[in-house]
Amino acid sequence: MKNYNIALIPGDGIGPEVVAEGVKVLKMIEEMDSRLSFSFNEFNWGCENYIETGKMMPDDGIEQLKGYDAIYLGAVGYPGVPDHISLRELLIKIRRSFDQYVNLRPVTLLNNSLTPLKGKSEKDIDFLVIRENSEGEYSGAGEWLFKGKPEEVVLQTGVFTRKGTERIIRYAFAEARKMKKTLTSVSKANALNYSMVFWDEVFEEVGKEYPDVTTYSYLVDAASLYFVTQPERFEIVVTSNLFGDILTDIGAGITGGMGLATGANINPERTFPSMFEPVHGSAPDIAGKGIANPIAAIWSISQMMDFLGYPDWCTRILTTIKTIVTEKDVLTPDMGGNSSTQQVGDRVIELLKNPSTGFQQIGDE
Ligand code: NAI
Ligand code: MG
Repeated sequence: MKNYNIALIPGDGIGPEVVAEGVKVLKMIEEMDSRLSFSFNEFNWGCENYIETGKMMPDDGIEQLKGYDAIYLGAVGYPGVPDHISLRELLIKIRRSFDQYVNLRPVTLLNNSLTPLKGKSEKDIDFLVIRENSEGEYSGAGEWLFKGKPEEVVLQTGVFTRKGTERIIRYAFAEARKMKKTLTSVSKANALNYSMVFWDEVFEEVGKEYPDVTTYSYLVDAASLYFVTQPERFEIVVTSNLFGDILTDIGAGITGGMGLATGANINPERTFPSMFEPVHGSAPDIAGKGIANPIAAIWSISQMMDFLGYPDWCTRILTTIKTIVTEKDVLTPDMGGNSSTQQVGDRVIELLKNPSTGFQQIGDE
């Protein structure tokens, strides 16, 4: 039996509320599957920690996380702590220190009723955004000169390295080949005359190694339009850090909202742990009320199971979530229901356990 060490960083606001439901699912999996077990260690890092200690995580935080098989994060950020501190000093620090340069964000419509797009159905909205996650517009390079003076100058530099650009594009091509899907690159070479011209060139170069993959290349503004008007154009999308961030919020919008959007931060070489998290933030407006939607966080668990080598559990969790949003009996208020976070989590467990849903004990047979 393989044991997996999971680092839990519940974080702030609704983070702990949704992570608790994800952990319930992992415990259920452990109970049902004789191939594996989990050990959990919880790290109490986040904005409260910052207010007390001036730090989002301890100085040796990255060192402490290094040995884990996976990190499961809720959300960070809270009123009173500037967002650029909470985000950069925890989430982005982990992504960069552990070279989690691939961000996998599925844009999958689980039920026709969930999209605000007229006439679009599950078969039209089912793609994967592969976002560059380690550099680009979020590299943090820049300069702030003459602060507060009339001659004030602010420079925010996008950093696109050959290594960083090639590896994300190559990852996307490999994925497209494996899944027999088309690959769309999203960039903006007409306006960003260095970084995005370079991006497009690399996309073309790497593409030569994958003649079997059908490719498209769109400007980000056109792609934003197509996300809404013709999402069926997309199967796999590869794009830069900033564009991927923005486009996947549109992705969340067309598939049922922030309560359903998930993202995996992957270090493909597995030199360091990868991190799984819902895309949403700490939602201070609903924190502590027990009504946060845990489905995005539970979907992250499905991505984690896939990454750990259990695609069967990935599918089972996804099927379960699909059942819940289709039945509509147990949903949180953001999806028009009146159930609590815990009740949705309990329903997931119930469905995973229930043999009448066609699921069986794994591992023992
Ligand atoms: P948010 O995602 O926290 O909330 C946006 C809206 O969506 C709110 O109305 C919220 O109630 C709703 N919402 C989000 N998740 C939900 C869920 N699971 N169930 C039901 N409703 C949900 O984004 P916002 O308000 O811009 O940011 C709040 C804080 O979160 C900020 O401090 C921000 O920096 C931080 N943040 C952290 C992220 C992370 O840790 N990955 C990502 C985005 C924001
Ligand atoms: Mg975002």
